[in-house]
Amino acid sequence: MRSAFNRTVCLECGHSEPADSSTGGLSQTVCSACGSGWIDARYDYDAVAPIWKAGLKDLECQDTLWRYAQLLPVDPPPPAAQFNEGGTPLIRLTQYEQLYEHPHIYVKDERRNPTGSFKDRQAALTVTALQRMGIKEIALASTGNAAVAYAAYCARAGIKLWLFLTSLVLAEKMREAALYGAEIVKVSGSYDETKGVAAEFAKRRGIYLDRGARGIPGKESMKTLAFEIAEQLGLTFDGGGWRCPDWYIQAVSGGIGPLGVWKGFEELYMMGLIDRMPRLGIIQAAGCAPMVRAFAANKEKADPVVPKTLITVLATGDPGYSYTLLRQAALQTNGAMLAIEDGETFAAMRRIASKAGFSVEPAAAVAFAGLEKLLHDSIIRPGETVVVNCSGHTFTAESHILGDRYALELRLDSQPEARREGLSAALRELDEQVTTILVVDDDPNARRLIRRLLRAYKQYRVLEARGGMEALEIVRDTPPDLIVCDLTMPGVDGFAMLDHLKNDPATAQIPVVVISAKTLTEQDRAFLKQYSESIWTKSAFDTRQLVDHIVRILGDEPVSVIRSTSAALEKPNEAAGEPRRVLIIEDNPADARLARRIIETVKGLQITETASGREGLKAIYEQRPDLVLLDLNLPDLDGLTILEIIQHNSDLKEIPIIVHSARTLSSEERALYSDVICGIIEKAAFDRSEFILRVTQALG
Ligand SMILES: Cc1ncc(COP(=O)(O)O)c(C=O)c1O
Ligand SMILES: [Zn+2]
Repeated sequence: MRSAFNRTVCLECGHSEPADSSTGGLSQTVCSACGSGWIDARYDYDAVAPIWKAGLKDLECQDTLWRYAQLLPVDPPPPAAQFNEGGTPLIRLTQYEQLYEHPHIYVKDERRNPTGSFKDRQAALTVTALQRMGIKEIALASTGNAAVAYAAYCARAGIKLWLFLTSLVLAEKMREAALYGAEIVKVSGSYDETKGVAAEFAKRRGIYLDRGARGIPGKESMKTLAFEIAEQLGLTFDGGGWRCPDWYIQAVSGGIGPLGVWKGFEELYMMGLIDRMPRLGIIQAAGCAPMVRAFAANKEKADPVVPKTLITVLATGDPGYSYTLLRQAALQTNGAMLAIEDGETFAAMRRIASKAGFSVEPAAAVAFAGLEKLLHDSIIRPGETVVVNCSGHTFTAESHILGDRYALELRLDSQPEARREGLSAALRELDEQVTTILVVDDDPNARRLIRRLLRAYKQYRVLEARGGMEALEIVRDTPPDLIVCDLTMPGVDGFAMLDHLKNDPATAQIPVVVISAKTLTEQDRAFLKQYSESIWTKSAFDTRQLVDHIVRILGDEPVSVIRSTSAALEKPNEAAGEPRRVLIIEDNPADARLARRIIETVKGLQITETASGREGLKAIYEQRPDLVLLDLNLPDLDGLTILEIIQHNSDLKEIPIIVHSARTLSSEERALYSDVICGIIEKAAFDRSEFILRVTQALG
């Protein structure tokens, strides 16, 4: 039998409507009677109850959460689209049983899901429903684990995912999500603000926004935890059938887990499969415990808090109606809501690992710390059966796989009154940043010029390739909105690249602007006329005309309309009449003095010196100089590391760097950093006039 989803009910006013089972309830988002977004799925329980009473046997998806497909809103995807989600073990925590002299403590080991957390359940159902609806692009705000889970499932389903994460989300989680190909937007605001940004972004772009605990497939997915626990306990205690634990304990942020689990037990109870409901143990981090506070104060609504916890995964400051629903559930069976200080959580994390062999992430450790407290304070009564959700242990992606280039950054103003305007300005900037331009040229200075011209106009994301082959690889991974390319390049040249691009239906639509110094034959011209938007002659074009042309192709307003653009297209400091800034990073005082004296002969420069790599990097971040003279052998942070950091930071990358060192770079090193080094002066082969020439050239 397939899904028995047959109607929906509004949790706020009780209004009922027939189910839209073809979309797994995804399309049912607002109550037509009262406008509430809390729509709940209901099923033909009379048809399902006898089947489940007889025991779930002979199913297609025996060991996964799809085992419970009859009470899920969406039918299982074909096995090829599944990841074996759910079906995690229930493991006895004998060490704690002995320690607290309390029998029957169990761990639901959700670490064993495909991406290592219970959020895989949510991603599995939601992405299946998205596929049914033919949706190809979505946005999601997350505190970390849902991001990784959705990234994996969207990758498998070929859905483009925009992740909005607060900048506090662990870099490891961001990297893992990025590895799955998700686009990451780091927002320097709270999680609640980040949700607002994601919603606004989705609206502007006209794409689907994940609705968290309010989305039908998401919440329904969490019921499968209750179903599994009841079946697993039934097997343990009674050799089969269904059994309700006395406690379900979970670390809580937005509350989708306990809401779904509670509903799962309610359905089992309603169908006569279990004889009572569990007590809920809702555990929050003390630095972000709006639910716990409101519960203690006996309030029906939780006041939002500003999260102050290291456990960013649990940083929902405003739980909204989730709290009201969970409070009703907790009151019904005399449950508990507890807050745990971060320090206590980290101690509990070490205990659960060293005493029982569970390595868990801090968010999951919050639940174990709660368990310890509930046992210690005898809130859990003797003999009660306890199940703790060991909600996550995410594996980390090594930083060197992706560098730091995987995220777009969105900075909200720190002044509260400026935040509103800050948000819309930041969103405008994001719109710019999601426009990607690929610049293909073997000459790093030519690439830098185009990048600087374009980014002086808008904060476009500019990717670079040194040749045709690299360009084709980038196009495959991150299809750009436009390509600017050179023709004469070693290996796959511009013609071959264009030929490839334009004959592949997936990339044929990408506009290409050609900038080349090559003398063109009639045949070349005919080819380029067919395959490119326009041809520009290197070093002979009018920069403003070129930028105008490119932005028009991208559908942006031409430069002439934008205020003070001609100034913006000049080098930044020069335009403002300020002196150009040169930063010397050199630990040898004599070398620094010599360099300064020579550079001072060039007029209109302001020179700063730093004697260590760390200070130098700090000065680069803070001053954004127009030129850096970089020594390689530095005491704390060496020059190559600085090059590496700059190479992976799209803002800093525009700063020209001249390497001035006693160390000779190998040809591999030269190639590796060719896009950030604009000149090399070897100390051994020092020549004063060449030095001046390089500096003036680099400053343009
Ligand atoms: C590992 C882990 N534990 C607990 C939670 C809190 O879950 P809920 O969304 O059900 O409040 C999360 C949420 O992201 C999580 O990732
Ligand atoms: Zn309603």
